[in-house]
Amino acid sequence: MEVMEAIKGRRSIRKYTPKAVEDKTLELVLEAARQAPSWANTQCWRFIVVRDSQLRDKLADTAIEVTEGKSNRGAEAVRITSVAIVACAELRKAGYYAKGGKAPVTDKGDWYMYDVALAVQNLTLAAHALGLGTVHIGAFDAVKVAEILGVPEGFVVVSMTPLGYPDEAPNPRPRKELSEIVFYDKFGGKKAKPA
Ligand SMILES: Cc1cc2nc3c(=O)[nH]c(=O)nc-3n(C[C@H](O)[C@H](O)[C@H](O)COP(=O)(O)O)c2cc1C
Repeated sequence: MEVMEAIKGRRSIRKYTPKAVEDKTLELVLEAARQAPSWANTQCWRFIVVRDSQLRDKLADTAIEVTEGKSNRGAEAVRITSVAIVACAELRKAGYYAKGGKAPVTDKGDWYMYDVALAVQNLTLAAHALGLGTVHIGAFDAVKVAEILGVPEGFVVVSMTPLGYPDEAPNPRPRKELSEIVFYDKFGGKKAKPA
């Protein structure tokens, strides 16, 4: 699958068939995450593959509603797929000097969210190209998930996704037009008319 085709065709999938994901396919998807770029190549990400259904239920129980009064359908999907992938980060790696500087290098602090997001997006695109569904899940109690999965001190849980065969084909969600989000030369700057 072409990159643009994968980028444009990927959707958040919240309904899955019970078909299990084969180990080989799972490995390919994880390999895509591993190849992501990161701050000074520090690769602060760690991934926990959760197959156990009782553990997946516990993960889903930590969900927070995204919209008031509506259950978090993405997180609920973790119960029905055969795999959940939980993305964690080692703190004080991304955004710091390579040789262990104590203070962050930039005014943005720890860049772990950025690096983990790059890896997880690689993972979701590769999954889509292989016919699998995913959905980035951010609305859950990350401290509880860290407890459930035994994530050690110095690491945090960032996001999770179910991984499985889609049982829905949702329409694309709308996106802002390029003219709303791209500026030229200055914030708010309009593209100069061709001479
Ligand atoms: C950082 C992040 C957190 C998200 N958290 C949730 C979530 O907790 N539950 C959920 O159902 N979807 C979640 N989503 C999925 C978004 O709702 C979805 O990506 C967005 O509506 C666009 O739809 P699309 O992915 O199909 O293009 C999250 C997406 C991102 C990028």
